[in-house]
Amino acid sequence: MQKLALNGGSKTIDGPLAKWPVFDEQDEKALLDVLHSGKWWLYAYGGGPRPDGRVTDDMGQVERFEREFAAAHYVKHAFGVTSGTDALEIALRACDIGPGDEVITTGYTFIATSSAILSVCALPVYVDIHPETYNIDPARIEEAITPKTRAILVVHFGGELCDMDAIMAIARKHNLVVIEDACQAAGAIIRGNQAAGSIGDVGTFSFQASKVMSSGEGGVATTQNDALAEKLWGYRNCGRIKTGVWYEHHASGTNCRMTEWQGAILRGQLRRLPAQCELRRQNYEAFAAKIRGIPGLKLRTLHPEGTQRCLSVIVTRFTGEGWDGVHRNDFVKALQAEGVPISIGYGWANYMNPLFLNIQQTMGHRAFAFGVDKFPDFRQYAERCPYTERACNSEATFMLHDVFLTDAAGIGKLADAFAKVYECRAQIPRTS
Ligand SMILES: Cc1ncc(COP(=O)(O)O)c(C=O)c1O
Repeated sequence: MQKLALNGGSKTIDGPLAKWPVFDEQDEKALLDVLHSGKWWLYAYGGGPRPDGRVTDDMGQVERFEREFAAAHYVKHAFGVTSGTDALEIALRACDIGPGDEVITTGYTFIATSSAILSVCALPVYVDIHPETYNIDPARIEEAITPKTRAILVVHFGGELCDMDAIMAIARKHNLVVIEDACQAAGAIIRGNQAAGSIGDVGTFSFQASKVMSSGEGGVATTQNDALAEKLWGYRNCGRIKTGVWYEHHASGTNCRMTEWQGAILRGQLRRLPAQCELRRQNYEAFAAKIRGIPGLKLRTLHPEGTQRCLSVIVTRFTGEGWDGVHRNDFVKALQAEGVPISIGYGWANYMNPLFLNIQQTMGHRAFAFGVDKFPDFRQYAERCPYTERACNSEATFMLHDVFLTDAAGIGKLADAFAKVYECRAQIPRTS
């Protein structure tokens, strides 16, 4: 019997399985070109009023990137911003979501999904995830709709599209706005030409360091709708309008414009995306085949019509069956000791953060600004979202996309580590 690395045995994986982030001389040149141009910001180019009043048709890196990103995602408009959080905030503002409104969403996501809703003084209403896909369960949405519901903010968690057919049908029936939080889903496409961020009213993407395309920080807001495009453009640009002049402001906007540095880097990231998606898919399938025989481990169910998979988070569901009482947390610790870059992911749902649990104490005096006398008790969602709770507390494990840019030998080592931990389960300390 082998000895677990956790208990002093040798590690299965020594060192990173793949290089990340990926870049080459073309990226280096693109950055140097921006440097030497002296034009480091979006307003050095055309596409709206400029401080010097000049009108120009020049296109910088951001605008070129926006066009390329939109084309790759089958969407008409894309606007480069400074983060996914900003993209969400301007999306909600452009859709006129505000005080007194309720936004249906998922608790199984990064906090920005929820905090963006609060930032426009609307309230999140949480619907449970589907137990196998981990995306919002459309079958549970209608029961959460009230006369105050204005929008559904879906999250394509881990780069897998939600059931958008069902969600759009509900939205049409109840006249609701749909915002897609596609921050984890760049490049995710179903049916050949329906991409994340192209189906709802507005889509939002993040290029923060952990994402499949990264410029360190960054984001994009997308839409098919020309009127919403004008609004997104304006909210990003201090409330300006394209036909106005520099110091003319029509809306209470913000400044979250992407820089030329980010645009230059992201063009390279986008160029590599399809090949990286394909490599991850192949490695994912190989990994799935190798761990199939291990009891108590399931991979989440993927969208049945996915034609380009993003796989930004590779999710294993640890059911515990056949593991003789080992808890998910101890399983993950044993794998980490073997050198597997794995985590428990979201250890609690958005609504279980102190932000929401203490909202009466910290923000109670501002409840009127949200159109309510008193904030709801967000603890209620722990009972209303049992599958979200299970994923957080005892089931989910996350591996990030870069691990799956490895080669066949890397996938072999990964699967060996899982098999070893299962074989040696009796040695795993029970701490949880
Ligand atoms: C689902 C989700 N929404 C929103 C965000 C916010 O993006 P950013 O970190 O770029 O602000 C992230 C990423 O961190 C995310 O994963």
